[in-house]
Amino acid sequence: MCGIVGYVGYREAYPILIKGLHRLEYRGYDSAGLALVNGAGELNVHKCRGKVADLERFTEAKDISGHIGIAHTRWATHGAPNDVNAHPHYSESGSIALIHNGIIENYSVLKDALIQNGYTFKSSTDTEVLVQLIEYVKATNHCSLFEAVQSALKQVVGAYAIAVVEKGNQDEIIAARKSSPMVIGIGEGEYFLASDATPIVEYTDRVVYVNDGEIAVINRNQPLKVVSFDNVESQIDIRKLEMSISQLEKGGYPHFMLKEIHEQPRTIVDCIRGRISPNGDDVVLSGVIANKDKFLQARRIIFVACGTSWHAALIGEHLIEDMCRIPVEVEYASEFRYRNPVIEPGDVVVAVSQSGETADTLAAVELARAQGAFIFGICNVVGSSIARATDSGAYIHVGPEIGVASTKAFTGQVTVMTMIALTLAKEKGTISSERFAEVARGLLELPAKLEKVLGLDEEIRDLSKIFTYARNFIYLGRGYNYPAALEGALKLKEISYIHAEGYPAAEMKHGPIALIDSEMPVVVIATPDNIYEKTVSNIQEIKARGGKIIAVVAEGDTVVRGIADYCIEVPVAVECLMPLVASVPLQLLAYYIAVNKGRDVDQPRNLAKSVTVE
Ligand code: AGP
Repeated sequence: MCGIVGYVGYREAYPILIKGLHRLEYRGYDSAGLALVNGAGELNVHKCRGKVADLERFTEAKDISGHIGIAHTRWATHGAPNDVNAHPHYSESGSIALIHNGIIENYSVLKDALIQNGYTFKSSTDTEVLVQLIEYVKATNHCSLFEAVQSALKQVVGAYAIAVVEKGNQDEIIAARKSSPMVIGIGEGEYFLASDATPIVEYTDRVVYVNDGEIAVINRNQPLKVVSFDNVESQIDIRKLEMSISQLEKGGYPHFMLKEIHEQPRTIVDCIRGRISPNGDDVVLSGVIANKDKFLQARRIIFVACGTSWHAALIGEHLIEDMCRIPVEVEYASEFRYRNPVIEPGDVVVAVSQSGETADTLAAVELARAQGAFIFGICNVVGSSIARATDSGAYIHVGPEIGVASTKAFTGQVTVMTMIALTLAKEKGTISSERFAEVARGLLELPAKLEKVLGLDEEIRDLSKIFTYARNFIYLGRGYNYPAALEGALKLKEISYIHAEGYPAAEMKHGPIALIDSEMPVVVIATPDNIYEKTVSNIQEIKARGGKIIAVVAEGDTVVRGIADYCIEVPVAVECLMPLVASVPLQLLAYYIAVNKGRDVDQPRNLAKSVTVE
């Protein structure tokens, strides 16, 4: 979603802002812009619809000088994606410019009041209201920009991360956040500002995460100052950024998504490092061990998540119920937060989020906290809002995921959930030592198995050519593999724009089987498990109706090979780890179909990497 970059210091701001916007492109956006205060104190705002490259062309003959500036990529919410609605927005007099991530919910009331006071509006955004309000407050109270922002925000209802600069002020950016992330990088005589750390990492590893309800005064001549909306000064907590530039680049791959698919053997190693003993007889997840009583005494565990993270949670449900005999529910965070759910003290809520910034998941966490649940987070982005809002948690440690379609985060999430289930089952005594070791060793062997699956890259690329022009797809799986089927379908729709649905294989005959004809490709995960024969029967039912079957099977399978039109053979793992193995060829299949169709794989239309609005 929208991205923010800011700079104030001794260097030219423009190249830093543009590079920062490029780093944020992965979040998804439809217009871009920036505001700079030049050496004469003039405020120049440049913005246009399209990509950051369009903005660069647009600014070619313009004044882009200045050592201070703010920049933005916009993902349209209020108002169409066009030049006027792009950020920065500037005030009536043209003296204040502002960029904003989030939504101002009471913007129409504020707008009416400002119109009555003579203000006019150029855009149809909620953001323009805020910059006008700041100017109005500043003019009526004769106060500083900081005081005007502080006072204006008290009148605002909604979610926001904002950055504001002012004509005539070459030293200072005012920034603030509520429910939308913001991080400040601290250099020598310079500051960087961004909605996530990716634009900052090449300049400094010293960062401060702005908390909800805080305003930062970022002045190049002064130490960083952060205060609450009520003017209470906050302690500056400088953290070390654990991220490298190479993680943010494609490393020779044509797309981040392909790079991230191929990184999975390594990211699983990173995810389990130091957590599983070499012989597989012990698993240590400190966040779970430290809170084991809460988990073991839980009446039930409720997973809240969205999208791919929700699919991973479905596997988590299966793992925990199967191994630990604790009841588990899996909820879409977006539904959970609004449906007055029964949450009681003693419930454990597990929030799953790659970005750690998904607005619905964050709201679900806040709701669960208010009702007394213990909250555990499974996040990737260190220091993200959800990671910080939870009582405890386990990072998945798969490194920055830039492709909008989640791949390595999914396998990392399921790996962490497997380790959680093993840890709890051992504590509770609901798993035999043999099964424990079998699954733990299975995790240790997983990177090598994924490496083998990735060796199928070329074969899957060839297979994808047969289906480039398919209009629909069905994905089927049962048991542990059902969520992997859902995830395979989601990958395909996200990046190829082909309609795809995932179902539990046996559910087909209750309706969806009506869709089957010779035009319908059906991807079936048919790896060995206790219902393998039943899955084979489901495949027969589809075959009998002319469906084109692409089956993911175990190496050496002869039964399904005799029925399916195409087979992808993967190495066998313990049943509960099979969705990890089976999901990788489905990621590749979706990737290559999308590439064949010429889609923008890393930034598919209409999608955002972290969905920070509801
Ligand atoms: C995954 O491919 C999607 N882009 C999307 O469904 C994503 O998983 C969802 O928005 C949740 O994101 P999160 O894990 O960052 O919370």
